[in-house]
Amino acid sequence: MLIVFAIFMGILFVLISLSLVWIIIGLIATILIRVPYVNTPRGYCEKILDKVDFLGLTVYDLGCGDAHFLKRCVQKGAKKCVGYELSPMAYLTASIKTLMKPIKIRFGDFFKADISEADVVYIYLVKTVLAKLSPKLKSEAKAGCIIITVGSSLSDWTPEKIISLNGDYSAYVYKK
Ligand SMILES: C[S@@+](CC[C@H](N)C(=O)[O-])C[C@H]1O[C@@H](n2cnc3c(N)ncnc32)[C@H](O)[C@@H]1O
Repeated sequence: MLIVFAIFMGILFVLISLSLVWIIIGLIATILIRVPYVNTPRGYCEKILDKVDFLGLTVYDLGCGDAHFLKRCVQKGAKKCVGYELSPMAYLTASIKTLMKPIKIRFGDFFKADISEADVVYIYLVKTVLAKLSPKLKSEAKAGCIIITVGSSLSDWTPEKIISLNGDYSAYVYKK
């Protein structure tokens, strides 16, 4: 009986320790990356998926979180998806959730990503980071690439379409 109790307590200790390590890594990553790991709300994803045709396209999500937007893109007919993620927690979650799917999750900084093959670049980031990404999109995205930003617009670009998500909160669709 005592042995069973000791094993139970041992397993509990390991699980609690792992959870704490997971939470601490997540907090450190969020502080270092300075962009919170917040997914595009599902309702917003559906509104975007309804208004943009992803059929046969290669979609990149810069800062893909748990990759749920990319998963929906595949369900809507996207040919290939690539997500970049710098947070270890989000990267692991995304990698597990996209096993056996035509989605590649890359652990790394999207500022260093090769986005030249993307037909669509999807971005849900804070405005300051978006502004820093703008020159990369201008110089590296291919002609005709569709760029979708959620919540914030690219100040020096003119959107082709604005999708209302919730009141004044919108997604902006650009074509390079
Ligand atoms: C607001 S979340 C968006 C998640 C996902 N794109 C979605 O819409 O559901 C932004 C994500 O970008 C990641 N991120 C921020 N800066 C990054 C960088 N330089 N390289 C890769 N990922 C980054 C964060 O870790 C976070 O998971």
